[in-house]
Amino acid sequence: MSLPGTDLSGGEPAATGCPIRTESSLVPLSGPRFHTDPHHLYTEMRRDHGPVVAVELVGGIPAWLVIGYRELHQVTSDPELFPRDVALWNQWPNIPDDWPLIPMVGRPMPSIYFTAGAEHRRHVSMVEPALEAVDPFELRRSCEERADRLIDAFCGRGEADLMAEFAEPLPVLALARVLGIPDDEAPELAWTMKTLADGGADAQSAYLRFNELMRRLVAAKQAARQQGLPAEDLTSEMLRHPEPFTDEEYALDLQAVIAAGHLPTADWLVNSLRLMLTDERFAAAFGGGRRSVGQAMNEALWEDTPTQILAGRWATRDTRLADKVIRRGDMLLLGLAAANGDPHVRQHLTDAEPAHSGNSAHFAFSHGEYRCPFPAQQMAEIIARTGIEVLLDRLPDIDLAVPARNLVRRPSPFLRGMTSLPVHFTPVRAVGGTP
Ligand code: HEM
Repeated sequence: MSLPGTDLSGGEPAATGCPIRTESSLVPLSGPRFHTDPHHLYTEMRRDHGPVVAVELVGGIPAWLVIGYRELHQVTSDPELFPRDVALWNQWPNIPDDWPLIPMVGRPMPSIYFTAGAEHRRHVSMVEPALEAVDPFELRRSCEERADRLIDAFCGRGEADLMAEFAEPLPVLALARVLGIPDDEAPELAWTMKTLADGGADAQSAYLRFNELMRRLVAAKQAARQQGLPAEDLTSEMLRHPEPFTDEEYALDLQAVIAAGHLPTADWLVNSLRLMLTDERFAAAFGGGRRSVGQAMNEALWEDTPTQILAGRWATRDTRLADKVIRRGDMLLLGLAAANGDPHVRQHLTDAEPAHSGNSAHFAFSHGEYRCPFPAQQMAEIIARTGIEVLLDRLPDIDLAVPARNLVRRPSPFLRGMTSLPVHFTPVRAVGGTP
């Protein structure tokens, strides 16, 4: 997740040369194998380079990719040595303004996602209790309603693209409700998120609109508070926090909640559905077997995790990690998907129990001080699970409309989802009454 469009105003980058370049060869972090065949690719990387790999990003920018489970645990457990503090990056002098990965890496700004240390903890102390206050029963109810409305729009057709028409809009509409965004503004928020994810020519204007929607939301909730009309929503809960934050900080934290939550939840939903539609073991789910929905969702977090690679962490001083020398200001990319597949942990897990049967020691939500907040993980589960359950209830004979081998993954080493999920089913009537 990241938010483009603000100025770099953090600390001075370390004036080093390029220590990662002393590695004999940098592995390009690009190419189709990251989305067509990531598991074999990571196996080869592990064999040839070990658990920490020197990689090259677009434009020749070097970084470390941490693919060992143990090493990733070490990095994410040590926020003093490896904070998520992009201001430390020693490559800033080499990064042009239009570098295409800026949206992935981010820039320092006063939000939960782009601050580090005490400042990050200050934001967490306000955002996390507000996420905790979200009523799970109300979230489930509003997801059922929104899922029904989305299905109503295509159920009479007998065919649909479940990515564009269901998995993508559902999380953002559910999150809009959680934040207290009026129903008539939610479709515009959904548009900004889709346009940002597509990354096309409109992405910058979508970002500005997104920012404006969040500022307007904060202003409206502040005004309601002053009139003694506080509402029960996440934004109002954040404003109730005893320590004051600026309206800009509130707006950026709300942006972080939506931007961090929307696409990974859509991808979790669609990756779980893909698994259920292509793997016989999940056939029971289509006859009302709810247990296997949870199993498919957990398996998706291990095998097909929505955030494959996350940027990142930055070293505060020179150090060693596995057999590599890391310099101050080097960027470490978190290889969440690769660590999930590390034979060290897989071997250990399968001895005791199958990796997916309720075991949640995966890295899908990362780990440590900067991990995805626990109440956010719970919200994501409610949204994705409710979406799948409502879909299976309404369209029980749903099936893929193309051979599984023709399904296309999002062409990104960082985020794993589907570009589309075409299905067909027996047409049914809309529950809203329209045929
Ligand atoms: C309702 C849905 C979600 C919300 C509201 C949400 C919110 C957040 C927030 C606020 C952060 C920043 C945490 C911090 O800086 O302290 C974050 C980080 C993160 N989230 Fe989520 N998230 C959601 C769903 C997901 C899903 C479905 C996944 C993947 C399966 C995911 C993976 C991550 C990861 C990998 C990070 C970065 C952690 C790190 O840097 O170590 N999130 N999320």
